[in-house]
Amino acid sequence: MRNGPQRHRDTEVTKIWRSLCLCVSVACGIAAAAQTPERFGIGQPAPPELIAALDIDVRPDGTGLPPGRGTAREGAQVYARHCAACHGAKGEGGSADSLVGPEPKGMAPFGPAYEQWRSGRPDVSFTIGNYWPYATTIFDYVRRAMPPPAPESLTADETYSVVAWLLAQNGIIGEDTVMSAETLPKVVMPARSRFVRDDRKGGRTIR
Ligand code: HEC
Repeated sequence: MRNGPQRHRDTEVTKIWRSLCLCVSVACGIAAAAQTPERFGIGQPAPPELIAALDIDVRPDGTGLPPGRGTAREGAQVYARHCAACHGAKGEGGSADSLVGPEPKGMAPFGPAYEQWRSGRPDVSFTIGNYWPYATTIFDYVRRAMPPPAPESLTADETYSVVAWLLAQNGIIGEDTVMSAETLPKVVMPARSRFVRDDRKGGRTIR
């Protein structure tokens, strides 16, 4: 352990070092700013095709949905081939989330009433049918993320079809209802009215 004076001397030396480093940093900064070129000569302008390939988000109102169409009947094959291995043959869940589940009609999937209904049903979870507020989000999510080994590998028609299949399995649309950029945003999800807009203006939880 060091004695008092030794520690004192250390502190003085440290202070000098710190001041010196600061001076050098500032000097370097000024020199660098004076020499900063207008362009760095790296990167290249992004062509519109590249931006279009990355810009695939679909908004709740359907903005961004591509042309295409599909029904649940067609989607059954897409689902069996690309999704069932993880999500179960009928969407009941497997190694990955359940996508289809019982919906206690008129009951929000949270709160005491739901918990009471749910008790004794450990297999009940949040699914597209009881939790997702917009059908368009299913399209967005499936297109950008599923199936995990090859996201974005499904065509627009395949994606519309498999989304239609998921909606039909959840009892929201019929087997032959055509899903497209026009019809998908019009689907009213059971959970649509269960979310409220966060319109808080202040308070400790708002930053
Ligand atoms: C290799 C396994 C696998 C395959 C195949 C697969 N998924 Fe998934 N899926 C997952 C996993 C894992 C998650 C959870 C991802 C997370 O939470 O980040 C998931 C999540 C989802 C969700 C969100 C569930 C929720 O409510 O949060 C949907 C919808 C979905 N998958 C649809 C599909 C569809 C449609 C296909 C076929 C085109 C598919 N998945 C194929 C593994 C898979």
